[in-house]
Amino acid sequence: MEGTEDILAKAREVQARAHAPYSGFRVGAVLEAHDGAMFLGCNVENASFGLTLCAERGALAAAVAAGHRAFRRLVLVTDGQEAVPPCGACRAVLAEFSPDLPILSVAGKAREEWTLGELHPLPFRLEPSNGFTAGSGPE
Ligand code: THU
Repeated sequence: MEGTEDILAKAREVQARAHAPYSGFRVGAVLEAHDGAMFLGCNVENASFGLTLCAERGALAAAVAAGHRAFRRLVLVTDGQEAVPPCGACRAVLAEFSPDLPILSVAGKAREEWTLGELHPLPFRLEPSNGFTAGSGPE
């Protein structure tokens, strides 16, 4: 498993590529799959504000497109001095795959850790038609 400081360096790199001209709040996300593969995301804002894409959902979409459905860690780096948790929409989308995902969030000197299960304890679920089961373990 790659060290936390290495993953934070990746999160900072992708944070620097955020497109956040309206909020000025840049977010970098690294989502680590169970086999150690890492997927990066940054927020991508739009002049039509509601179309803005969060960093976490960008990273998740890249991971799923590459064939990954189980994750062992999410690392976030944001602007400001207060470590923030993923927004509600991102919690729901992450919980589809890894409902107890460990999350580390860093902003300046602040560091916070949660599990997704703490932040989003009762996710909405439907019975999948193809045998898919959400879980935090390997696929
Ligand atoms: N944002 C994220 O990228 N992830 C979150 O979980 C919360 C918010 C972005 C969206 C927007 O570009 C900026 O942060 C301010 O809301």
